[in-house]
Amino acid sequence: MIAFDEKQRIFKIDTRQSSYIIGIYRENYLLNLYYGAKIPDTNLWQRAKRSKSASFSPSNPNFDNEDFSTDVAPMEYSCNGSGDFGVSAFSVRNSDGNSVTDLRYVSHKIYKGKPDLGAMPCTYAAADEADTLEITTVDKVTGVEAVLIYTAFTKNGAIARSVKVTNKGKNPVDIERVFSACVDLPSADFDMITLYGRHAKERCVEKRPLGRGVQGIFSKRGVSGHSENPFAALTEKNADEDKGGVYGVNLVYSGNFEICAECDYSGTTRLIAGINPTDFLWHLEPEESFQTPEAVLVYTDKGLGEMSRIFHRLYLNNLIRGRYKSEKRPLLINNWEATSFDFDADKLVSFAERAKELGMDMLVMDDGWFGKRNDDTSSLGDWYVNEEKLPGGLGALIKRVNDLGLKFGIWFEPEMISPDSELYRAHPDWCVHVPNRDKSISRHQYVLDVSREDVRENIWAQMYHILSNYNIEYVKWDFNRNISEAGSAVLPPSRQKEFFHRFIMGTYDLMNRLTSTFPDILVENCSGGGGRFDPAMLCYSPQIWASDNTDPIERLTIQFGTSLCYPASTMGAHVSASRRTGYETKGNVALWGTFGYELDPNKLTEDEKTLVKEQVKEYHKYYDLIHYGDLYRLICPEENAYKCAWSFVSPDKNQALVTIVTMREDIGLLHILKLKGLDPDKFYTDEASGEVYSGGLLMNAGLNVSRMAEKTGESVKIFLTAN
Ligand code: GLA
Repeated sequence: MIAFDEKQRIFKIDTRQSSYIIGIYRENYLLNLYYGAKIPDTNLWQRAKRSKSASFSPSNPNFDNEDFSTDVAPMEYSCNGSGDFGVSAFSVRNSDGNSVTDLRYVSHKIYKGKPDLGAMPCTYAAADEADTLEITTVDKVTGVEAVLIYTAFTKNGAIARSVKVTNKGKNPVDIERVFSACVDLPSADFDMITLYGRHAKERCVEKRPLGRGVQGIFSKRGVSGHSENPFAALTEKNADEDKGGVYGVNLVYSGNFEICAECDYSGTTRLIAGINPTDFLWHLEPEESFQTPEAVLVYTDKGLGEMSRIFHRLYLNNLIRGRYKSEKRPLLINNWEATSFDFDADKLVSFAERAKELGMDMLVMDDGWFGKRNDDTSSLGDWYVNEEKLPGGLGALIKRVNDLGLKFGIWFEPEMISPDSELYRAHPDWCVHVPNRDKSISRHQYVLDVSREDVRENIWAQMYHILSNYNIEYVKWDFNRNISEAGSAVLPPSRQKEFFHRFIMGTYDLMNRLTSTFPDILVENCSGGGGRFDPAMLCYSPQIWASDNTDPIERLTIQFGTSLCYPASTMGAHVSASRRTGYETKGNVALWGTFGYELDPNKLTEDEKTLVKEQVKEYHKYYDLIHYGDLYRLICPEENAYKCAWSFVSPDKNQALVTIVTMREDIGLLHILKLKGLDPDKFYTDEASGEVYSGGLLMNAGLNVSRMAEKTGESVKIFLTAN
């Protein structure tokens, strides 16, 4: 529900559990009056009063001695150069050469549903799921218009924000900063939670107290990247999994981003999220527009667990698209970890034969099937089959796999080019580069300049040829390096800083071609494991390979971190022949994700095969519960040295699946596990023991799990159903 109180000049954006309130102050300054737990009224002007005496804060000359300055007022969308000395959400360099920017309210509209954002991937909503407010603001001197777009997912609880800038003036301008969201909060008493990592150790949880000044995260890798995920949460000091105020923000963008919080001397916090202004400058001729990515905001006073569930429900219902949004995904086996580049048709068919016997649905052929690629030094860009490895070509191999009753999937890395490739020899200028500088190499490869239409045409034609001629039902889309020496041979010098954004829009264009031309293909995104795990990618691929690290114990921290904002059905997770733990724990951990296998099934012992068959049955048994149920993190790996645990609860609260993994031997320690999210008045039967407990007992008294999974690497599942 979104309302405008004309008398008070106040907008009220309500969701199920939050209110976001904006006021139009004198001379049409937009102020952020409140964001927090849902409140009934809007008597909030008193809350926006700030003393400006302490920092020489400048004033609007028409305001006489009034205690108002953009420097200290809670600005709804902070602008550069007009008195607000805090971190700016918006800055435009005008044709006079200065960057003084001053947006003021002009008009607004409120409507049901949600606009789409053109080529920018974003959430979507039916008319009865969301309300949208568009506030038009303008910078009088340049004529630059910025429409601040707010969509409230009324039942879900999230708010999506973005900004559309149009040059309505007579002269060209350059956008220097255009963040998607800015929130001014009247407190600095927060911790900041972010997800940091590296290859094979993605999305670890970092929690730090906010201090004065600017702090936050960014990427300038050309992609969202391994090192920081485009997610941050500000949590009140007493907040934990189950209680306390939490502000979460997740940017629906796969390019360079920045999310930062600035705490000032007076004890306020400004949070901004959007495109990283470093290496960004966007030229706008009169009448041209620029649409920012979308930032998803979630506020809850029920802690991090509830924040995660709000993100999860939003992404499941209003972000992921296509056939596999609701259709069961095929259970796949991928050959990469077992074979690397060393495979041929017969080996793959032997995998498929065993996979069929074990009950799997699909064989995915990973890297190494094209050009003359027998290691990672060549052939990216040459997307035609290597007949030495696959005699008779793809058709012959896929027929053999399909004849066994298995689907077939394939690996691409469309945005890359090897220096040793036909494509590079024909078009050396097609890779990302700048004049007169060496091109850095990473994994023996360069990045293709997909900001260029001609480059995209070529790559798409090659992919189209493969996908339209063969029965391919899954594509793994990889991206195995970051972008350095960034520039495009076809952009003029004055527009080179548009490259990074144009690059990612080029990627989105290619992905859109894939999903719209082949809507039945299941796409799994990947980037050296989970290096491009962001909500924008989920618009094209309902699942993303979470990490190249398939060791189940290492996976625990990766999956706990990822789950802060991404649902289980999006996390690519496979059972592999990794070093630690038995297959039971490997299966239990991979079950918290898409579930699949990445091993040589010919090498499984008879006992292991029996176990795998059981796991395949469990995949089907628990599929709906895990993919569409609510996640409750019960014991996080950072909080307990010995055990960690999580559970899924069905929306009707009639089923719950609890998984406990022992990370370190803990014999002798008492472990009482209190469950969460159950109906206190329902009675649940433990499938294994037949014991019956009320939800109230399970949540308050808890289960004694001390003697379960006692040894390092052991795990156990507890399946509860309400009578
Ligand atoms: C990346 C992926 C792996 C695999 C290899 C192939 O590292 O994360 O799963 O596809 O590339 O080169």
